[in-house]
Amino acid sequence: MTFSFKAAALQSSAAVALLAVTGTAVLADEITIAFGSVGRDTEIMQELWKPWEEATGHTVKLVTMPSSTTDQFGQYRLWLAAQNSDVDLYMSDVIWAPQLADHFVDLTEAAKDVAPRHFPAIIESQTVDGRLVAMPVFTDAPALYYRKDLLEKYGKSVPKTWEELTATAKEVQDAERAAGNADMWGFVWQGNSYEGLTCDALEWVKSSGGGQIVEPDGTISINNENAVKAIELAASWVGTISPEGVLAYQEEDSRGVWQTGNAVFMRNWPYAYGLGNADDSAVKGLFDVATLPTGQGHDTSAATLGGWNVAVSKYSQSQEAAVSLAMYMGSEEFQKGNAIEGSKLPTIITLYDDADIASAQPIIPRWKDVFLQAVPRPSAPTRVKYNEVSSLFWNAVHNTLSGQGTAAENLEELEVMLEDLKGGDSW
Ligand code: GLC
Repeated sequence: MTFSFKAAALQSSAAVALLAVTGTAVLADEITIAFGSVGRDTEIMQELWKPWEEATGHTVKLVTMPSSTTDQFGQYRLWLAAQNSDVDLYMSDVIWAPQLADHFVDLTEAAKDVAPRHFPAIIESQTVDGRLVAMPVFTDAPALYYRKDLLEKYGKSVPKTWEELTATAKEVQDAERAAGNADMWGFVWQGNSYEGLTCDALEWVKSSGGGQIVEPDGTISINNENAVKAIELAASWVGTISPEGVLAYQEEDSRGVWQTGNAVFMRNWPYAYGLGNADDSAVKGLFDVATLPTGQGHDTSAATLGGWNVAVSKYSQSQEAAVSLAMYMGSEEFQKGNAIEGSKLPTIITLYDDADIASAQPIIPRWKDVFLQAVPRPSAPTRVKYNEVSSLFWNAVHNTLSGQGTAAENLEELEVMLEDLKGGDSW
């Protein structure tokens, strides 16, 4: 018989004492984790944490953050600067490790046996000055979602270039509207002023031969003709194949339009794949995914590398249990569940050969090469300045998309601001 009791009077409010069959008293903590959820994330996570809760006696409490990674980062920075001990674990975007590293516990020792099972580049991206500051939970690389039924109906193929996408989106949208579907749009994506726009715009620029804003050696490359052309083309979409509202869209807004059946194409991350095929989706079974297009005359598609990792706060009062939960979230069991339930790309290499995952979410094995070739945002070369670099970039792009200045003017000005921020030869 397992006997447990709440010893609220004796223990801190966050802990209860469990008396195991062995007679050994174990402290059970309530572990608080902060993360911004999209889709069914909250529900899925709570389900996936259960085996860990049962095995350890601890419980997990979720603090839901804004879905915008930018807003989430702002909140994290405030909490961490204040050495907040209420949050034990932080779900951390792939780009944040260098900026938040000082606040996180080194997981190298705890992860030493399991780290080699993850893709080395992901472990490396979360390693700062030799310290593993976050455990990989899932990786991310976007797709071009397209409506198979509509392309077939109008005899169109999946676009290979952004120019072709522009033309096909317009043609199918106009034909569908003429046929009575007044709410149809050609292409939905993420145009809000936030990190998501940096991801989208990096893809247009990189796949058009315009570089990656700041190159891996630290050179500022964004002010060039190919980048100008790519962003001008995107500006032409607003109000034609994309609603004006796209300038305020994040991932979930684009998914909302797409999943009600009102878009021919969507740029989004793999999480939208499982949700789009759910029973409550109007596009269930009607779509497929392809790699994002390239600029005309260029042959390499670019997908921005995303992904989420879990970090343990240095200010947590329950570090041991928090580290244990972080390890569990990086485990095969957790990642497999998250892949099947949430169509999230695992970071454990062998899961790409897992038959259950492949049959539940066919995008996953197909997306291994896409994420392996994905383009990182310049968070490594610009280190602690990345957030400012990114916000200067998304602002320059957002201004262009909303008709405030041309791409040429805005990128020229951006280059000056980035040089200023860099402030010398190195970041
Ligand atoms: C996804 C990616 C993340 C990126 C964010 C932008 O969540 O995984 O890396 O920063 O989208 O909105």
